[in-house]
This record gives sequence, structure tokens and C-alpha cells, in this order.
Amino acid sequence: MDVSQAVSSRHSVRAYLDTPVPGETIRRVLAAAARAPSGGNVQPWHIDVVAGEPLARLKALMAQRAAETPAGETLEYDIYPSNLWSPYRERRFKVGEDMYARLGIPRENKEARRRWMAQNYQCFGAPLALFCSIDRRMGAPQWCDLGMYLQTVMLLARAEGLDTCPQEAWSLYPQTLGRFLELPQERILFCGMSIGTADPGAPVNALRAERAALEEFTRFRGI
Ligand SMILES: Cc1cc2nc3c(=O)[nH]c(=O)nc-3n(C[C@H](O)[C@H](O)[C@H](O)COP(=O)(O)O)c2cc1C
Repeated sequence: MDVSQAVSSRHSVRAYLDTPVPGETIRRVLAAAARAPSGGNVQPWHIDVVAGEPLARLKALMAQRAAETPAGETLEYDIYPSNLWSPYRERRFKVGEDMYARLGIPRENKEARRRWMAQNYQCFGAPLALFCSIDRRMGAPQWCDLGMYLQTVMLLARAEGLDTCPQEAWSLYPQTLGRFLELPQERILFCGMSIGTADPGAPVNALRAERAALEEFTRFRGI
């Protein structure tokens, strides 16, 4: 698979088969992804990988936490700015509605949407999750470095025939995750990522999120 194929075939997969991810495969991906660039080569990413029995324990714990505290815990960062504005607000709304349409869950069925949201914490059935954290003292440039690392992981996962879903939903439970992963106090959880093999029959996996046209986000000069 070349880079273009990896980029075009990557999409967020939200239903997985239970096919395990071999330990050597995830180690290969995470090691190779460390070739991602970072400002000053500080490599600010920290990754916790959870699979097997510990992941079963985490999923059970999160089923309980999501049921008793559906709105989440005390947040450590805002996922979006408040009152997201145009055109970002419409894009966010559209992908959500497109996803729920695939799932056959109407807007007014809040309970079904809540149940679906809780699927995040079951890794959508994936057999492996990783969690990305960073030193709290790092700023926006280093958080961008995390994005470069994580995208590299997602592309290399494609080359191994694996699928992924990055998940900020995990940041709604920073205290539970912090305790479970035994993160040091100075570390803040950015996101989780489910990794595994897509369930090809799941309607939600047919979703391809739209993208803005090139002209909407670019300006060219001299070319
Ligand atoms: C940092 C980050 C966090 C995300 N968090 C979630 C999440 O919690 N749950 C989810 O279902 N999708 C999540 N997504 C997936 C986005 O919704 C998805 O990337 C976007 O809609 C574009 O779709 P695509 O990845 O299929 O191309 C996240 C993506 C990123 C990059």
C-alpha cells in the first residue's frame, strides 16, 4: 500500500470484528510512527496500549462510569471552543447527522444516541486501544505534534491492514482514565484510539465524512 492509498482508505471505523491485533504488529506501528516530525524533535507523545484482559476490565469499568455519569467527569480541556461558529459548526453537525442516519437513530431518540455515544467506551468492539497523553506544561505546538504522531499511526495501521478511530470521547473521563492508566499527575490525557479490523457488514462503517472543497481552505499566490 502506498501513502496515497493509506490516506484515502483511512476513515474512522466505528464497528470492529474481534480479530486480535498481534503485539508485534502494534509495536512495529508505534515504533515506526515515531518517525513523525515534532518541533525541536521533542517527541512529546506518550502512549499507553491496552488489550486483552486489561481492556476487558476497562470496558467493564467504563460501561459503569458512562451509565452513572453520562455527562462525563471534570474536564481537563475543552474539545471544542464554546458556541462553535460557521463553517465549523455546520461541518460538525453534518458529520454527526450523517453518522446517526447510517445508524438509523433519529435526532429525537436521545436515549439511543446516548447508548451509541457509550460505544466509544467499548472501543466500538475493537480488541485494542491506545491512549495518548502529554505533559501538561506543553503548549499548542506540542499538541500539534501529537496529531502528527497519531495520524502516522493511523496510516501505518492501514499498511498493516488495520483500521482505527481516534476518540476524544475518552477525555470526558480523565479521572477514571488517569487512575486506570496510572498516569503521572503531570500528564494530561488527549485522546484514545480504537484499533482493529473493521466489521465490513456494519452500516456505520460505510460513512465517508465529507470534506470542504480545496478553494474553501486555501489561497494560492504565484501558482
Ligand atoms: C482528535 C480526534 C478525536 C476524535 N474523537 C472522536 C470520538 O470521540 N468519537 C468518534 O466516534 N469519532 C471521533 N473522531 C473522528 C472524527 O469524527 C472523524 O475523524 C471526522 O468526522 C472525519 O471522518 P473520518 O475520520 O472518517 O475521515 C475524532 C477524530 C479526531 C482527529
